[in-house]
Amino acid sequence: MSRVFGGPDASAEAQMTEATLTGPDLAKGVVFSTIADGTMMLGHVHGEAVLLARRGDKLFAVANVCTHYGAPLNEGLLVDDTVRCPWHHACFSLRTGEALRAPALNPVSHWRVERQDGTVYVREKLETLRKRAPSVDARLPGSVVILGGGAAGNAAAETLRREGYIGRITLLSADQSLPCDRPNLSKGYLAGTATAESNPLRSADFYKHHDIDLRLGARATTIDRLSRHVQVEDGSRYVFDALLLATGADPVRLDVPGSDLPHVRHLRTQLDSIALVAKALSSRRVVVIGAGFIGLEVAASLRARNLEVHVIGRETYPMEKILGPEVGSFIRRLHEEHGVTFHLRTTATSIDAHSVTLKNGESLEADLVVVGVGVRPAISLAEQAGLATDRGVTVDEYLETSSKGIFAAGDIARWPDPLTGERIRVEHWVVAERQGQTAARNILGRWERFQAVPFFWTEQYDFGLAYIGHAAHWDKAEIDGDLDARDCTITYRKAGRKLAVAVIHRDLEGLRAEVEFEQTIARLRRPERSIDANIELPRTGGDPHDKDIQSR
Ligand SMILES: Cc1cc2nc3c(=O)[nH]c(=O)nc-3n(C[C@H](O)[C@H](O)[C@H](O)COP(=O)(O)OP(=O)(O)OC[C@H]3O[C@@H](n4cnc5c(N)ncnc54)[C@H](O)[C@@H]3O)c2cc1C
Ligand code: FES
Repeated sequence: MSRVFGGPDASAEAQMTEATLTGPDLAKGVVFSTIADGTMMLGHVHGEAVLLARRGDKLFAVANVCTHYGAPLNEGLLVDDTVRCPWHHACFSLRTGEALRAPALNPVSHWRVERQDGTVYVREKLETLRKRAPSVDARLPGSVVILGGGAAGNAAAETLRREGYIGRITLLSADQSLPCDRPNLSKGYLAGTATAESNPLRSADFYKHHDIDLRLGARATTIDRLSRHVQVEDGSRYVFDALLLATGADPVRLDVPGSDLPHVRHLRTQLDSIALVAKALSSRRVVVIGAGFIGLEVAASLRARNLEVHVIGRETYPMEKILGPEVGSFIRRLHEEHGVTFHLRTTATSIDAHSVTLKNGESLEADLVVVGVGVRPAISLAEQAGLATDRGVTVDEYLETSSKGIFAAGDIARWPDPLTGERIRVEHWVVAERQGQTAARNILGRWERFQAVPFFWTEQYDFGLAYIGHAAHWDKAEIDGDLDARDCTITYRKAGRKLAVAVIHRDLEGLRAEVEFEQTIARLRRPERSIDANIELPRTGGDPHDKDIQSR
């Protein structure tokens, strides 16, 4: 695969390239003793790449291609009776093929395995469980309204149905387009390596088929907590028993003369990306304002379209605050090798039709300007509704806001980090989807604590970095390995405590770091529990009476 972490089109590509199947034909059988306990074997069955995994005396067979972007699961990690994907840490059940954790939303196929006289055979494909039996329970909400058709909102709607919820689901999105794969908007789609068809997460028919009332271009203006309804800009009203707020974040606008000119663009929605691609096709020189993840991904993607790219940033090294000066300096060189010019430790003071002026008076020619200087959580509805907010919507460990039956997830949610006890808010795709999934289950009364370890990835050219954990502030960054060779692990600590790990082309290390953080969280919560790499970590939190009451 040409790209480090694949892309939304890669899954299909991976299926097609399985003409070059490797490993044994598992239908013909393999000797049991050749599969060591706790290991995986890659083989194939009737033309499909199949992963055979052993746990004690139990054997499992699932498709080897991750349903997110097509990663080979045999390069991932076995944890209990699951396999975790090496690229973006989706997790699949080995027993059922079910996608247990985002970003994968679809299951992988699974097969029946038979052992006969010391030989293991992979037999017929089994039916994949897509939906639990319908739940009919008077205590369940009769209707759920989800505000926001992004990562969290879409994942929540899907999860409600998958968990057997049969009540009304309304998904209101201010976006004009179907819920889309936002990370793709600054990467493959913008670079021209992924098709427009790969942007939507689901087809319009998917929502119809699952009886999810998706309303596009539907911007909610007020939430009435007492009469429990949401008012939409066009005058329509939606009554709810349970509400999920998943309104995401809005790009920060620059407050300098010329920042509202038509060639000054932001990137959040699919329409933004389509418009940016169209403008890029007729542009020669772009100035990107902001040297964070979005700005740098945009820079890399527009270089792939052969535009001359200049990047302006306040920092000394790109992404220095999160990743540190060594990694920042490496990233700067990476971009410079691809022809990008940096203007760091400065800001833009004005923009006109043909140029951007810097603080030192320098003028940079530009027929396209992309502003990527961060986002602000979209919390005005929550504030209007009188929910507790603190630079985000305050939620407890079950993602419930200060108002019973109203939940929040994704970029807007500030939740108690189980590792440090501090409330955190992150802007990561996988976190938003997983929060949407957890919130949906809690709407159904499962009372599952949100304990997922934050995960983020970025791709720039052929370089990929994954980040596990959360270190808003750190005082030490230890690099293990060779950064220049793109083979290293960076550990971020504060006062000696490990808070986050970044891996560069070391997928397994990233997965192991995730498991290690999970074990620390489990130990913090339940000190009596023994810690073992193969212990299944809690998926359900149990009792609503344990609820954190700080936000109430
Ligand atoms: C270009 C781009 C690339 C990214 N790349 C990565 C990446 O590589 N890795 C990563 O981890 N993260 C990445 N992110 C961040 C990630 O996409 C976000 O963290 C994630 O989308 C947050 O999900 P969300 O559901 O909270 O918000 P969103 O996905 O932004 O969805 C918010 C939804 O709320 C709707 N909405 C807002 N206000 C209202 C209202 N009043 N009424 C109705 N609907 C409303 C919006 O229309 C939208 O549908 C990227 C983000 C962008 C923009
Ligand atoms: S390719 Fe598997 S999680 Fe993304």
